[in-house]
Amino acid sequence: MRILGIETSCDETGVAIYDEQQGLVANQLYSQIALHADYGGVVPELASRDHIRKTAPLIQAALQEAGLRPEDIDGVAYTAGPGLIGALLVGSTIARSLAYAWSVPALGVHHMEGHLLAPMLEDNPPDFPFIALLVSGGHTQLVQVDGVGQYQLLGESIDDAAGEAFDKTAKLLGLDYPGGAALAKLAQNGKVRFKFPRPMTDRPGLDFSFSGLKTFAANTIANNPNDEQTRADIAFAFQEAVVDTLMIKCRRALQQTGLKRLVIAGGVSANTALRHGLAELMQQLNGEVFYPEPQFCTDNGAMIAYAGFLRLKHGQRQDLAIEVRPRWNM
Ligand code: KG4
Ligand code: ZN
Repeated sequence: MRILGIETSCDETGVAIYDEQQGLVANQLYSQIALHADYGGVVPELASRDHIRKTAPLIQAALQEAGLRPEDIDGVAYTAGPGLIGALLVGSTIARSLAYAWSVPALGVHHMEGHLLAPMLEDNPPDFPFIALLVSGGHTQLVQVDGVGQYQLLGESIDDAAGEAFDKTAKLLGLDYPGGAALAKLAQNGKVRFKFPRPMTDRPGLDFSFSGLKTFAANTIANNPNDEQTRADIAFAFQEAVVDTLMIKCRRALQQTGLKRLVIAGGVSANTALRHGLAELMQQLNGEVFYPEPQFCTDNGAMIAYAGFLRLKHGQRQDLAIEVRPRWNM
């Protein structure tokens, strides 16, 4: 079975082909980041227009990369939500139309399920059950994963997502959107000087709140000189607070469920400080941590092709109606 996967939920056009025997045989990505940089965030209308331009050529490139023809594809998976409605409609319309023309099934995939299963594309995939920490620009969630489609939400952010907090704080520090990776780089030159709070760690539960950290950063910036070292020290303290908070909640989730495997996924899982922190935590807990390789931490078509493959393999089908869900609980 070979599945074509199409991701267009936000500002990356991702197209990939997953082959049951050979694994990933094509992976094409076009990032719109430069297009939106001048606006300090994703402009939905521009995103849709760019997906329209890029999706079909990327599908052609993916088929070429894998040395396949359209008739070699057994199904088409696409991101049906959550995400920007116009952007989702582009991918879903192209996916469904191709599937109809090729007489193969099509299936809408939940974007976060794609992120959550991405570590299973690696050589040493985790066994079920595991705890997944999903940290992206739109979500921060702790999920107990008992199998494909068996997800139990344990906790989530009540306001900003971790990636959103990174991006907003980065903006305050004068870094370009999306500033998560740039803030992490700036933090490398930072030293212990400021102490940021660890929100919601002093009470029980697995929910998160990150909007206060951005405010704390704004106040710290306002009350200190605006030199390079101070900016690095603020980036360092902010990142340390986010990482520490995520670690505290992961430890809690693992202890609460008795599970020993932790998966991290989503854009923020590319963060080196977070990876180091969680590796250390899992060593202490005698467990194991799994993450996707960096290119599959952020949005990509491979995770959608793979999640779609697992579901289509299990016989899941949908009719021809195109349905997207900008908001969608997993
Ligand atoms: O999963 P993703 O590509 O898109 C969403 O579904 O949101 O995640 C993007 C988020 C952005 O907020 C970006 O700043 C953040 O991931 N990010 C990082 C790093 N790389 C990407 N945050 C912190 N450190 C990084 N190295
Ligand atoms: Zn994402």
